[in-house]
Amino acid sequence: MTDVLFNEDLIRRYDTSGPRYTSYPTAVQFHEGFGEAEYRAAAEATNAGGAPLSLYVHIPFCDTVCFYCACNKVVTKDRSRAGAYLDRVERELALQGELFDGHRPVDQMHWGGGTPTFLSHGEMERLVEATARQFRLRDDDTGEYALEIDPREVGNDTLHLLRQLGFNRLSIGIQDLDPDVQKAVNRVQPDRDTFGALDTARAEGFRSVSVDLMYGLPFQDRQRFARTLDRIIAAAPDRIAVFNYAHMPHYFKPQRRIRDEDLPGPQEKLAILHETIDRLTAAGYVYIGMDHFARPDDELARAQREGTLHRNFQGYSTHATCDLVAIGATGIGQVGNTYSQNVRELDDYYAALDAGRLPVFRGLELTFDDRLRRAVITDLICHFRLDTARVSAEWGIDFDDYFAAERAALEPMAADGLVEREGAILRVREPGKLLIRNICMVFDAYLERAEGRHSKVI
Ligand SMILES: C[S@@+](CC[C@H](N)C(=O)[O-])C[C@H]1O[C@@H](n2cnc3c(N)ncnc32)[C@H](O)[C@@H]1O
Ligand code: SF4
Repeated sequence: MTDVLFNEDLIRRYDTSGPRYTSYPTAVQFHEGFGEAEYRAAAEATNAGGAPLSLYVHIPFCDTVCFYCACNKVVTKDRSRAGAYLDRVERELALQGELFDGHRPVDQMHWGGGTPTFLSHGEMERLVEATARQFRLRDDDTGEYALEIDPREVGNDTLHLLRQLGFNRLSIGIQDLDPDVQKAVNRVQPDRDTFGALDTARAEGFRSVSVDLMYGLPFQDRQRFARTLDRIIAAAPDRIAVFNYAHMPHYFKPQRRIRDEDLPGPQEKLAILHETIDRLTAAGYVYIGMDHFARPDDELARAQREGTLHRNFQGYSTHATCDLVAIGATGIGQVGNTYSQNVRELDDYYAALDAGRLPVFRGLELTFDDRLRRAVITDLICHFRLDTARVSAEWGIDFDDYFAAERAALEPMAADGLVEREGAILRVREPGKLLIRNICMVFDAYLERAEGRHSKVI
């Protein structure tokens, strides 16, 4: 068996649905027995450790709907809705700010959506100022401050302003440059907007520029997507995410406007993935895992080499120790040993804050077993390697005993060349890297009960 990343036979055999493990346990396990009181207690308890903070701010609005979209969003042309939303975000920032010691620095900040660039310039300034009143933002550019932008919505002056406001990383939504694909998904995005945003981001000194692409969209095939890839590679972003389109029209209504007969079949999708991996690696990008590629000098690739990469709700991160405070409708936080989620509907979000309540509606307090399994899954997903002796020592268990059933479940995977065990080290081999979700699923204690809720692995 050759040790290469793309192994079609194995991909076919292991093709199944599985979580993306931005959290373990996944959000499916959150329950409503965990609410505001539990969140407050957990948040205040973290002040004893005083870890730095990571702030996630969710801006749900989009001007138009992209048919493929599985994100939490509200589609509206009415820009005035942003003001009413920010009124409540300010209230939430004040309530959250009271819970955390003021000296804890914000090492990481992320504006996601929806589309954060739905906000006007004045509203962006207002949001940063409101945040800075409640939390200690870093003013020396050492934080990892990122946002998602839609190139159709930003001018050069927007990127200039965002850089002035302290953002130093950008993620640019592209999906595909092909006009037919763009039309079929209702996201017509002229090249001058896409490449203009990339050029300006660099000129403004954003440190890491990431682009989002997607495969499995209508009318895509290997040749067409290769043309998109070549043009993206020529523009040299620091990171490239190539997401597998998760087609779940049952859950996401706008996806019903994508016709099944226009979608590439499984064989074509595999060909596109193969082409993508070949082209990106030939161009020098490193496969980080879970759809993400980075240039070898990018800090994600460096963190992976140095064993300090982490994963949370924003995907890969280099800040392992932060407590993650989520602001805005649908936001998911991770403080201490808990996860918590804000209400999804804007009406509910507004009602909670207008009544002076934090809008947490569900969450989870992790058990010992949850935390242990999370550590194992995080190591595998971030570093493709697990030091079982270290796990035993850190968690006061005997790994081989505790995970006897999991070791047995890994055996067929080892026989197939996905993983190998050398003494205390469990290593994911090249073909296993694309199937990392399957490997992590072995350590997931909740999986049987969550069938059908997750997207396909490939
Ligand atoms: C929350 S969206 C925000 C980006 C921003 N609103 C924009 O579109 O430019 C983040 C990314 O999720 C990905 N995404 C959205 N729907 C998806 C789906 N159904 N399957 C896979 N990836 C998806 C897209 O690549 C998108 O750029
Ligand atoms: S991909 Fe971005 S712009 Fe399009 S609907 Fe989703 S969140 Fe909105």
